[in-house]
Amino acid sequence: PPVQSLLNMDEIEELATKKASKKAWAYYYSAADDKITKRFNTEAFRSILLRPRVFIDCTECSLETTLLGNQVSMPIYVAPAAQARLGHPSGEAGIAEACGGFGALQIISNSASMTPEQIVANAVPGQTFGWQLYVQDDRTKSEKMIARVNKLSAIKFLVLTLDTPVMGKREDDQRGGNVINELTAMESPEGSEPVPEKQVFAGFDPSLTWTETLAWLAKHTSLPVVLKGIQTHEDAYIAALHNSQVKGIVLSNHGGRSLDTAPPAVHTLLEMRKYCPEVFDKVEVWIDGGVRRGTDVVKALCLGARGVGLGRPPLWGLAAGGVDGVKRTLQILADETKTCMRLLGVQRLDQLGMQHINTRLLEQQ
Ligand code: FNR
Repeated sequence: PPVQSLLNMDEIEELATKKASKKAWAYYYSAADDKITKRFNTEAFRSILLRPRVFIDCTECSLETTLLGNQVSMPIYVAPAAQARLGHPSGEAGIAEACGGFGALQIISNSASMTPEQIVANAVPGQTFGWQLYVQDDRTKSEKMIARVNKLSAIKFLVLTLDTPVMGKREDDQRGGNVINELTAMESPEGSEPVPEKQVFAGFDPSLTWTETLAWLAKHTSLPVVLKGIQTHEDAYIAALHNSQVKGIVLSNHGGRSLDTAPPAVHTLLEMRKYCPEVFDKVEVWIDGGVRRGTDVVKALCLGARGVGLGRPPLWGLAAGGVDGVKRTLQILADETKTCMRLLGVQRLDQLGMQHINTRLLEQQ
């Protein structure tokens, strides 16, 4: 079926599964161990109930917001994900084209299958990107990459991923016998080719720490830093202590790909509200993992998130139908989010809050 007839994320995933190569499917689908966290990521949203208010004018409804001060058309953004060209030849540049059309933010993976220069080459005016870093144990390699990223004016911030000091055990990938390398196109000799069948995560530095690594990063970029992979209120609190440099955090368990039975982001949001609510005023709090419906987006925003990331859905969209598939993915989620807001009696994102949700079931989990 043409992507325009697809109605939801499940249908996009289903078509992508039919079209993608076995290797691409395994890489995109896989998660750690028994995939409990991957499943909980979606289920946690379902256990939150919405509290719609009625008799409120919802003729107007806008998803516009800012992420780290950058104007965007919606709080939904594309999370960094490696190897988009495995799913479709247009790759990360195809995702960029779709995001440009929507005014949506895209975070480029350190392990993208195209260089950042290629990905931002056709950016439309005002289009915003972030760039995600996995620190290499040969720091000079990372320093060279950061120097390149510093020169690209479309890239407004740097995302340091912390939830993967070593790779989780992803059996779908292993079973294929063909583990995908997350090394980057930036340093592969082929330049823009995906680099398969090397040891996964070889070269990634597992020794990162709050003081050493943030100080090192400050020497190499003046871009604002976002820390990705925060999973407890304790780490959210520590991140906020560094808010002269760290301007945002992403509550994320890497789509369930790192530590199985790690908590879904909505649980961490609840913890933060209880133990360190002041953090929401010190850094922007974004989340990702298991977002498949507009109601999921709205629930995350009600709990205090400002940005909501999509990992697999854009990859499924790309595999299902190239640039049009990614556009369809973003359109469906934007439309669903607006419908949800209207049905709640809300016109703007800043009106969403705890009064719109009931988290009793979530708190029992
Ligand atoms: C990822 N993710 C990821 N994160 C990151 O910081 N750097 C990366 O290179 C990648 N690569 C990557 C590849 C694939 C195939 C997936 C599925 C995910 C994690 C990603 O940014 C995000 O945290 C999760 O994917 C969000 O969960 P959902 O939306 O996939 O459920």
